[in-house]
Amino acid sequence: MNVSPSPQCLTPPTGILQVPPLHRANSAPIAPPIQLSLIVPTYNEGGNVGKLITVLSALLDPVLPQGYELIIVDDDSPDRTWALAQGYLPDYPQLRVMRRQGERGLSSAVIRGWQGAQGEILGVIDGDLQHPPEVLLELLAQVRQGADLAVASRHIDGGGVSDWSLARRILSRGAQLLGLVLLPRAVGRVSDPMSGYFLVRRSAIAARPLQPLGYKILIEVLGRGTLDRVAEVPYVFQEREAGDSKVTAQQYWDYLHHLLRLRLTTGRFQGVKQRLRFPVKRFLQFGLVGSSGLLVDMGVLYLLFDGLGWGLTRSAVLAAELAIVNNFIWNDRWTFREFSQRQRQRRKTLKRFLKFNSICGLGLVLKILILNVFFNQLSLNAYIANFLAIALVTLWNFWLSVRLGWRVTQQ
Ligand code: GDD
Ligand code: MN
Repeated sequence: MNVSPSPQCLTPPTGILQVPPLHRANSAPIAPPIQLSLIVPTYNEGGNVGKLITVLSALLDPVLPQGYELIIVDDDSPDRTWALAQGYLPDYPQLRVMRRQGERGLSSAVIRGWQGAQGEILGVIDGDLQHPPEVLLELLAQVRQGADLAVASRHIDGGGVSDWSLARRILSRGAQLLGLVLLPRAVGRVSDPMSGYFLVRRSAIAARPLQPLGYKILIEVLGRGTLDRVAEVPYVFQEREAGDSKVTAQQYWDYLHHLLRLRLTTGRFQGVKQRLRFPVKRFLQFGLVGSSGLLVDMGVLYLLFDGLGWGLTRSAVLAAELAIVNNFIWNDRWTFREFSQRQRQRRKTLKRFLKFNSICGLGLVLKILILNVFFNQLSLNAYIANFLAIALVTLWNFWLSVRLGWRVTQQ
């Protein structure tokens, strides 16, 4: 097969990764302007690319007749995905194929695609049909209603993953948690920052250098974009039917590296301002609730251990748990009420409770460690050491509760 270069075969842009602003020619348009440019990054997706092109075109043709482009960005796949895709060009006028040689990687492929795109709305979808195509229409509707970014999410009601092992779920959630701790303001804006399925307004990311690394292009968009309104649409991550996933251990390192780089290169000044605005009032409320918990803890311990003659460990564990329940109720109703009022469903409350439990559990481990360091290593008086350990752990618990416990995403 010998396909001669056509306008549908895009030359990969070179130089810095930066999406240009849109400037439409003034002359009368021959065809309707392109509104949506959807990038499909592919590497060895020969078994999927044909079906993907057919399904996506059938979906978009009625909604945006001649008003979209589907851009396959293939990294010179050994299975010749690019050539297979080019075979569809004559029958699919909205299709474009970019074959990259020399540069590689999922995130940069997406940006190179956007750089060669004409649409005001830029998007990305996986090339292996794991992202259900129909969701695209809902994402599009969100952007048309004013969202700057619309993300397909596995982690809101109606979303999910099909058949993931516990280990994979933990890894995925762990990566998200890491993102929340390192880049709370960017990553915390969506429930599924790992999503590789989203639409973004060109104007939100245009004319600034992007420096993504590895797989998680959305992190870069969240970190560097100007996003006033963010919307999320649920989706269920499908199983792969053809080909293999390209994820390796390298992607986890890239992700960590990417987070750290964003942390160091974005919003430094906002970071300082934010730190100066320490929520003193909320912290005092949190501290007061903590003191009431201490009373509950002592009271229950006295009742069970001294009163009923239970064993010390059993009594202490139950006392601590009841104190956590007490603290949760007050924090949820009082300290963080403006967050919990927005998420009052029983399931959401239970989720907050479980999160608070884990935060306190972690805090307890930390407290014992600190106490030991102060008492054994620094030879402080046991009560002073205990007091300092409680103060530090309260601060830590407070910080995690603000960042993770009572966090409300935009849904
Ligand atoms: N051009 C190009 N270059 N494409 C690539 C490369 C590359 O180096 N590596 C992977 N791809 C393409 C794959 O061919 C596929 O279409 C898509 O990127 C996703 O790659 P997978 O290897 O299938 O990733 P996954 O299924 O584990 O995870 C995907 O889904 C997650 C959930 O939404 C990724 O897209 C994640 O970013 C996404 O969050
Ligand atoms: Mn996949």
